[in-house]
Amino acid sequence: MPYLSATNVHKTYKLKRHRIPVLRGASVSVEKGEFVAIVGATGSGKSTLLHLLGGLDRPDRDTADQQSDITFGGTSFKSMWGRRLDRYRAESVGFVFQFYHLLPELNILENVCLAAMVNKGRLRYDKAAATAKAEALLAELGLSHRLGHRSGELSGGERQRVALARALINDPPLLLADEPTGNLDAKTGGGIMDQLLAHRKATGQTMVIVTHSAEVAARADRVVRLVEGRVVNE
Ligand SMILES: Nc1ncnc2c1ncn2[C@@H]1O[C@H](COP(=O)(O)OP(=O)(O)OP(=O)(O)O)[C@@H](O)[C@H]1O
Ligand SMILES: [Mg+2]
Repeated sequence: MPYLSATNVHKTYKLKRHRIPVLRGASVSVEKGEFVAIVGATGSGKSTLLHLLGGLDRPDRDTADQQSDITFGGTSFKSMWGRRLDRYRAESVGFVFQFYHLLPELNILENVCLAAMVNKGRLRYDKAAATAKAEALLAELGLSHRLGHRSGELSGGERQRVALARALINDPPLLLADEPTGNLDAKTGGGIMDQLLAHRKATGQTMVIVTHSAEVAARADRVVRLVEGRVVNE
């Protein structure tokens, strides 16, 4: 049984009268502890697929001749509506968005701690512990000198690293990262990958990373490519 899988997934965006079929029977499966890189041309549907895997969006509905499924730990997302899906997102997944989605009015420490607050709920949230952990993560990512800055004041590469710290603060067993080094120079990006891989080695974390970088893809256990709405193995 794969740890995470998508089988024959379709996703069509609808804009007014236009239908934009992006995924047309995409399938991918990821074993526990594996690091899979997803590559493909711009607009090929990589972010779309990652959002579906993270339970952030739903695939097209099944039809009589088109059955699909997405599963985590053997459980189908079809049976994970509402709070169960919320729990999957909050407890099992760390998600790094391609465009960060940080809150510009909060400083970077607050942005990272917010994820811990959402994860724990108001009653179980331990502000001191979360702050200490967020500071340690941000230090590892080279951002100690920026803790009090609003995220709106940071460069793209700095925001990207804050987004990574936010994704990691709850020690998620599954990291889904959309171009986590896309705005970093090769050296900084390589350093971030070193940290992610060290973290994975220590925790057994499963990673799915969307990337345009050949260097990042080269470090994955397996590379899959999106072509015409389907996944092909490299
Ligand atoms: N919410 C949306 N509404 C309509 N069309 C969308 C939406 N999101 C994505 N698309 C379209 O779906 C296609 C795939 O988008 P997606 O963001 O998944 O590509 P991508 O492979 O991640 O590209 P990139 O490498 O540029 O990040 C694109 O043609 C895009 O315009
Ligand atoms: Mg994308």
